[in-house]
Amino acid sequence: MFDIKYEKIKNQLIEEATEILASNYKNNITVPSNILYPHQWFWDSCFIAIGLRHIDIEKAKSELTNLVKGQWKNGMIPNIVFGNNNGGRKISNIWRSQVSPFSPDNVFTSGITQPPMLAEAVYKVGEMLDKKERKLWFGMMINHIIDYHQWLYLDRDPHSEGLVLLLHPYESGMDNSPPWMGELHKSFTPKWIKYTEKLHLDFIYNFFRLDTKFVNKFERMSNVDAMSLYSLQINMRKKQYNTEKILGHNSFAIEDLAFNSVLIRANDYLEKISDFIDKEIPKNLKNNIKKSRSAIDNLWDNENAEYFSRNFETHKFIKISSISSLLPLYSGAITQERANHLVKTLESHDKFSVPFPIPTVPVSSEWFSPMNYWQGPTWINMNWLIIEGLKNYGFDDHADILIKKTLELVEAGGFSEYFDPIDGRPLGIDNFSWTAALTIDLLSSD
Ligand code: GLC
Repeated sequence: MFDIKYEKIKNQLIEEATEILASNYKNNITVPSNILYPHQWFWDSCFIAIGLRHIDIEKAKSELTNLVKGQWKNGMIPNIVFGNNNGGRKISNIWRSQVSPFSPDNVFTSGITQPPMLAEAVYKVGEMLDKKERKLWFGMMINHIIDYHQWLYLDRDPHSEGLVLLLHPYESGMDNSPPWMGELHKSFTPKWIKYTEKLHLDFIYNFFRLDTKFVNKFERMSNVDAMSLYSLQINMRKKQYNTEKILGHNSFAIEDLAFNSVLIRANDYLEKISDFIDKEIPKNLKNNIKKSRSAIDNLWDNENAEYFSRNFETHKFIKISSISSLLPLYSGAITQERANHLVKTLESHDKFSVPFPIPTVPVSSEWFSPMNYWQGPTWINMNWLIIEGLKNYGFDDHADILIKKTLELVEAGGFSEYFDPIDGRPLGIDNFSWTAALTIDLLSSD
């Protein structure tokens, strides 16, 4: 697949990526960034394990076994598992997971989840083990995955639609993505935040923010967005992270397209794991898995010929385009015809075809902002997911081109958190773990 140039730089890139992962390794886990994210994040750890499996299988396993130490008694896997050091305790105080009777004993965590990448990570780590070891590994992890997927359906799909809902933008993993921010500011931003903006007082929030101390503020979400997210977080904490309590009148809940696409694919991996060790998946979960595969098409909007997320209460599409529209490719649950349509969108110059793809927002969108976090920049994990999605539907040549372009970005800009899709410049924090781990995976897989 690679031309001579890549064969040459392959070893060098793998070496550099390995060094970054080693420098971000702290007490059995690899933090996303020593500076900005010094704890364990759910989907980061999954991507990290997928990369680490090529260079250090024991570390890859412990990444995931440590993650599930933070799993809640109701099955939820939190987006952050805090270390037990002082820094961890201090910041976990914002979340106060102990307010929920379901939070784990002796581990501090957040109170919300993140895209369900665990099943794929467990499976891919297993691929590197011999049959006996793989059986042991799958046997050790399968109940964690079953409990988590059960929680997603039982707690987050109250109308049994086969589509789970999210309650906070952080749960989507794409913190300030336009569909989420559009919906949030439409009716859920508290008045006091709107006044703060009107009076230009939102700068005060800078004093409480850590990210803008290390990264240019134009590369991060606005203070108003950050305040709105914080206020949602506090509201969830007040309700002990109890979905039923949070889902009151006029609640903010979204059936997120990308998250549900990831879940559908994760269900496939769960089934593969269960087949391998001959362990039955509970019947109710099996039914939900089936329902989800067809429910993804309820997120297809005929009018725009596009997939969108949906408001949980009103069932109205959130018609703001973003990279999520392409994620059904990754789910593997859509028809070839729809997949062909998505690939055309990917190739379209006024949408996703730019010098350094894939932008997280189409370039023609009024939201497109090439340096701003999830509102335009190219992220390596998104490219990785879409590469997998392209392979699902036989677009292997497209996948190869995207792999090359992704590696070019890293080769020129380093292992940054994200990149400008127009000029390729590195953005966000340096030495970011999933950029390093997924580079290793792209260079090591055939
Ligand atoms: C940011 C990203 C999120 C990631 C976290 C840690 O919050 O939006 O997806 O998991 O950082 O890297």
